[in-house]
Amino acid sequence: MKLGVPHERNEGERRVAATPASVKKMVGFGFDVHIEHGAGNESSFRDADYIEAGAALTENPWDADVVIKVNPPTLDEVEKLRVGGTLISLVHPAKNDHIVQAMAARGITLLALDQVPRITRAQKMDVLSSMANIAGYRAIVEASNHYPGFFGAQITAAGKSPPAQVLVIGAGVAGLAAIGAARGMGAVVKAFDVRPAVKEQVESMGGQFLMLEFDESGDGGGGYAKTMSDEFIAAEMALFLEQAKQVQVVLTTALIPGRRAPILWTREHVEAMAPGSVIVDLAAANGGNCELTEPGQVVTHNGVTIIGYTDLTSRLPNVASQFFATNLVHLLDECGKADGWDMDMENEVLRGSTVLNKGELIWPPPRKPPPPPKKEEPAEVVTTEPAEVEKPAAKKESGTWRHILSLALAVLFTVIGVWAPIEFIQHVTVFALACFVGWQVVWNVNHALHTPLMSVTNAISGIIIVGGLIQAGTGEMNLAGILGGAAILFASINVAGGFLVTQRMLAMFRRGDA
Ligand code: NAI
Repeated sequence: MKLGVPHERNEGERRVAATPASVKKMVGFGFDVHIEHGAGNESSFRDADYIEAGAALTENPWDADVVIKVNPPTLDEVEKLRVGGTLISLVHPAKNDHIVQAMAARGITLLALDQVPRITRAQKMDVLSSMANIAGYRAIVEASNHYPGFFGAQITAAGKSPPAQVLVIGAGVAGLAAIGAARGMGAVVKAFDVRPAVKEQVESMGGQFLMLEFDESGDGGGGYAKTMSDEFIAAEMALFLEQAKQVQVVLTTALIPGRRAPILWTREHVEAMAPGSVIVDLAAANGGNCELTEPGQVVTHNGVTIIGYTDLTSRLPNVASQFFATNLVHLLDECGKADGWDMDMENEVLRGSTVLNKGELIWPPPRKPPPPPKKEEPAEVVTTEPAEVEKPAAKKESGTWRHILSLALAVLFTVIGVWAPIEFIQHVTVFALACFVGWQVVWNVNHALHTPLMSVTNAISGIIIVGGLIQAGTGEMNLAGILGGAAILFASINVAGGFLVTQRMLAMFRRGDA
């Protein structure tokens, strides 16, 4: 099966749909890969590397059974596609109806990478997320390039400079990547999103989530937002006006699928910012979140720089091509590779991303019906042993046992209290308190911190070694001495193991050059 990879010709586009590494995989899948001369030049992949990976160079990559590319094809390019062939690329079918029609006329099967459903299984094929991740990082790089100060705090002999305050609007994939990059550079980062569910993600990236006292969630399903009420947007913009006076860098990524990006940063917001501030509008290609954005341009208003680049991913062409190509390889695998090629329309990922099936328009895919309401148990099951009758009985039984156990413990403690020597009671009290404090400490610590906590607290078993030495140090071969020796052995293993685990964990966070 012949697979063609053309050189991208859109202005400013430097990515390519295949890398030498992905060619190797595709050849392994049984494809006969033909790549256009110089297709990888702008993303630092040489023709020689493609040949070494198993591809053939060509002047005409269009005449293949399957063509993979980054951007939607132009009408001229559609004309070059093989009749009845398959094209896999970004398509944006809602915006490019004329191109879809032209391909339908040629009986082409068209898979739109921008329509891959956002479900867990499809993450490895989700080009939009991989590209948004890169765009979020690059947006911070662009912002820092135009910002006339440090992002991180500086204290030097010549004076000090506070950290830059960054506001990220829209904490989706791009927003979260931007938060991570800005935090990495030392900035103080705040973020806002209409989906309160992302609060935890923002905080895990080191950002502070701004809350709006408004009873409306923007969750539109699948990690995307829905259109918000006018009242919500008004409250949101009032919050932003407050923030405009405090922050020096704003990054807007707010997007509602299939719609123009909402205007969230008006002229008034721009004018409220201090001169030297920077706005990066990632939604520029969809009209922009900032009223003054000019798509593709960098403009200045009142001393504030507004960056509207629409090619942020292309500004990191090598890594963007690698990610893009890897997503494509996974999609080709999903299609059954060369030998088992099968556009199975029962497959949720393929059905969701197929726009044309042999020229027939099947996009948008039918909406998935909501899950049926839970059915009553079938009559036969109910008439057998009714679970409802069993459960309370079982509950009652366990309740009785609990009472017996409590009574037994109460009797035991009373007997101990009356008969046991005072030292024993003191030791039992310390033991019970230690159990309670330990339980409270461990259970109230975030799960992610359990391992470092335990590995360090293991060192506390050092106290057992001291006790063991006192007992074993008498030199007598009695039970206390033997138990003391065993305590020394086990506590030493515990202490040494604790330090080893701590070292391993620290090594994971240490930079390679350190
Ligand atoms: P996403 O859908 O994962 O994130 C968008 C976020 O905006 C969502 O979390 C959503 O809840 C939030 N949002 C929607 N309305 C909002 C509102 N009124 N206020 C606050 N938050 C709101 O999208 P993703 O993948 O992170 O992409 C973000 C943007 O970056 C998109 O507009 C995308 O087109 C753009 N992008 C731009 C590139 C460039 O070169 N300029 C490259 C790649 C992506």
